[in-house]
Amino acid sequence: MTELMVALDRDSIPLALNVVEKLGDTVEWYKVGSQLFCCGGPDAVKELKSRGKKVFLDLKYHDIPNTVAMAVANAVEMGADMVNVHAQGGEEMMARAVAAAHAVKSSGELPMLIAVTVLTSMDDNGLRRVMNVDDGRTAADQVRHLAAMAASCGMDGVVCSAHEIGLVRKVCGKTFKLVVPGIRPAGGEPGDQKRVMTPSEAAAAGADFIVVGRPVIDSPDPAATARQIVSELQSI
Ligand code: C5P
Repeated sequence: MTELMVALDRDSIPLALNVVEKLGDTVEWYKVGSQLFCCGGPDAVKELKSRGKKVFLDLKYHDIPNTVAMAVANAVEMGADMVNVHAQGGEEMMARAVAAAHAVKSSGELPMLIAVTVLTSMDDNGLRRVMNVDDGRTAADQVRHLAAMAASCGMDGVVCSAHEIGLVRKVCGKTFKLVVPGIRPAGGEPGDQKRVMTPSEAAAAGADFIVVGRPVIDSPDPAATARQIVSELQSI
């Protein structure tokens, strides 16, 4: 079943934990991204773990292989259950990230190592501008290419939009983890997200995790919104 992961995009640990308390047992997985990590640091992860929650440390490492390997090792030590890097950092960088995680934890459960492909806030046009190529390549083509590369480096899965789930599954297989942001309840405001789908559409397409931030945490009733999303996921 597709799992709901809530992005704790807040400016302090108390503000983030306030959301966690409101959501109670409805949500097990939380995403700690740059916004919360830059004010709360590793304590943000520790606080969530001490409440029995699972943590996706979403710092999207994109650096030279050695730096990324060391940062992944520290994230594993921190107790994150999922860690990500940018696939655009290349094959050596991803392979070194995988090796570093294994070196830290030779036994017990390793965190899932996930590669970001093309940000869900980017459309075909935005990607063309960034890559400075105009050869008809789409965001979906680039996602497929980077996902195949990530799988060949031993990564456990990728972040992609719901629109690319089918094509990534075809290339990377059934057990490859697909983490899908850019989720908006039907009729919801997309904001800066471009490649969006509803929770039930993403679940029907085969997402392992959907990542939802603002629609839950800024909701007047976050618990009710999260329960509605979970029941949508369960109905698929
Ligand atoms: O508020 P919203 O639901 O748009 O939040 C989506 C979350 O997922 C944000 O924390 C964002 O950083 C993250 N994310 C994303 N696209 C990616 C990877 C992560 O939107 N490709």
